[in-house]
Amino acid sequence: MTPDDVEDLRLTTTLPDGTVLQIRPIRPDDKPLLAEGFTRLSLESRFLRFFSPLDHLSEAQLRYFTEIDYEDHFAFVASVATPDNPEYGVGVARYIRFDADPTVAEAAVAVADDFHRRGIGSVLLEALAAVALTRGVTAFHLLVRSDNHAMIAATEALGAHTAPNDDAAIIRFVLDLPELATELRGTPMWSVFQMLGAGAAELAPGYGLGRGANYAP
Ligand SMILES: CC(C)(COP(=O)(O)OP(=O)(O)OC[C@H]1O[C@@H](n2cnc3c(N)ncnc32)[C@H](O)[C@@H]1OP(=O)(O)O)[C@@H](O)C(=O)NCCC(=O)NCCS
Repeated sequence: MTPDDVEDLRLTTTLPDGTVLQIRPIRPDDKPLLAEGFTRLSLESRFLRFFSPLDHLSEAQLRYFTEIDYEDHFAFVASVATPDNPEYGVGVARYIRFDADPTVAEAAVAVADDFHRRGIGSVLLEALAAVALTRGVTAFHLLVRSDNHAMIAATEALGAHTAPNDDAAIIRFVLDLPELATELRGTPMWSVFQMLGAGAAELAPGYGLGRGANYAP
């Protein structure tokens, strides 16, 4: 699949604190956005996300993270509009399917530190899960450091359970997507992403979605 094929997976939601969040699939020309957003991750967040103290993303990493096929590797970027920038990056979530079992994918998410705790990580993961199901992925594995209390809480809130992992410092969470779907099926975000992800509907950019009150087609 090309970026044009997933262009319609572009939605806008209002978070509980009133922040208007835009979500769309990552594109090859997002390298500057990704590189700049990375600079706004604290050292701790970089370590929690990448398990190493990176000081920047290399050209090879930027290519790997932005030049994707939207089937085996899918990523959403979340942004907000600021006075200086209509698309100020605040988060990224991606899944990468396992070669050995294409029904399972490793998923990961990172949210800019000054945007934590507004619901962005949850919205990104739910949107990613909705699309993954339409691609035949039925479970996400999330590798989470055992001292990553935020991600452990966020993952448990989505109903994930743990599975054995070789490295004791890393917890392997398994998020069963059909179970998550059962829980989220009634929500506007879930149904919209499911429709779009399956190519069953085309909605204009800026279509509103969200948890609850602000939802308006
Ligand atoms: C983990 C992370 C993605 C969470 O993103 P977020 O947008 O802040 O998360 P949300 O606002 O959606 O929080 C969802 C739930 O997770 C839990 N949670 C999130 N941050 C928490 C924290 N600091 N302490 C305790 N619980 C927390 C809460 O249950 C929260 O729900 P609530 O706010 O309604 O109580 C973010 O902290 C981050 O980017 N961390 C660095 C990178 C990382 O650890 N990535 C994970 C690698 S897989």
